[in-house]
Amino acid sequence: MILVTGGTGLVGAHLLFKLISDGEKVKAIYRNEKKLNNVKNVFSCYTEDFQTYYNKVDWVKADIIDIPALTEAFEGIDYVYHCAAFVSFEPDKYHLLRKTNIEGTANVVNLCCAFNIKKLCYVSSIATLGMTLNNEPITEETIWNPEADNSVYGITKYGAEMEVWRATQEGLDAVIVNPGVILGAGIWRYGSGSLFKRARNGLKHYTTGTVGLVSIDDVVTIMIRLMKSTIKNERFVLVAENWTYKQFLQALAVSVNADLPKKLAKASLLKFAWKLDWLKTKLTGKRRRLTKHIVKSLSTEKDYNSDKVKNTLNYAFKPIDNSIKEVGAIFLKQEA
Ligand SMILES: NC(=O)c1ccc[n+]([C@@H]2O[C@H](COP(=O)([O-])OP(=O)(O)OC[C@H]3O[C@@H](n4cnc5c(N)ncnc54)[C@H](OP(=O)(O)O)[C@@H]3O)[C@@H](O)[C@H]2O)c1
Repeated sequence: MILVTGGTGLVGAHLLFKLISDGEKVKAIYRNEKKLNNVKNVFSCYTEDFQTYYNKVDWVKADIIDIPALTEAFEGIDYVYHCAAFVSFEPDKYHLLRKTNIEGTANVVNLCCAFNIKKLCYVSSIATLGMTLNNEPITEETIWNPEADNSVYGITKYGAEMEVWRATQEGLDAVIVNPGVILGAGIWRYGSGSLFKRARNGLKHYTTGTVGLVSIDDVVTIMIRLMKSTIKNERFVLVAENWTYKQFLQALAVSVNADLPKKLAKASLLKFAWKLDWLKTKLTGKRRRLTKHIVKSLSTEKDYNSDKVKNTLNYAFKPIDNSIKEVGAIFLKQEA
């Protein structure tokens, strides 16, 4: 049996649908009943008969930082996909980020070792990769620089990878995937799905940087193929295409029949916007939407290279243009 953590999130829910469609027996952990609606919404992007698929998941209530509950979830499990994480770039969430991403992953891998799990797939991020000079391609070999001005998210995802590598030294077989921004339908309130909502509401500005993009179909297909292969103790960058933010935000706008963002947001405007966002959070307590590191990444050009996974699995990624159109069309249908 397969265990999926983070099943109520974008990656976990799409992965669960694919695993069930492939006839696998799956168990998934959840924390809050309300979030199970995310799963139904994601499944409904694939089929009207989503309830039948949903009923095939053995749901177990557990938090990855609650070791006794997590231990119960591991009963009868052979393979683990660890997709649970706290995704935030807010510096004041650093403690929770460390607790969830590093300590939570340590708990998952420790239980993988204790239960003799056959293989683990951990979903990391391109945020754990280092930077290159002169826009040289960034690969699995571009190592993390602890001295750099890293985001709190990156620091904790890197710490989580270290826990996975530590467990491989203790005998666990594992693969790690490092996706760029994942395009997938069904969860629109936050994460990459919220970009479609924002585009629909009208974006005026674009920025100078680039973004590494990948479709959720590719992410879950590759995760499953890696798990079924003999490959172990390797990581793989999953970026189908690197686009400029101008291209990306304009394609998002087209996909949801909205006006194109036409103005370039200069560095001074972005700096003003994140400071204003900080002040708004202080006054209202609402979550940050822009941080220094988000602004930095919106203005930085990076070239992520996924040749390793393409060559290892003989894999061809879906064109990003098609993925944006597909997700945008589902957004419009679900919004209606
Ligand atoms: N989406 C992207 O563009 C992207 C890109 C690169 C890498 N990633 C990585 O992909 C993985 C999945 O991301 P996602 O987009 O699916 O994120 P998401 O939609 O925010 O989902 C996160 C999942 O983790 C669960 N979770 C968080 N804290 C937990 C805890 N303490 N115990 C148990 N479960 C917990 C959440 O459960 P609740 O529903 O209860 O909150 C949710 O199911 C993450 O590791 C993320 O770092 C995502």
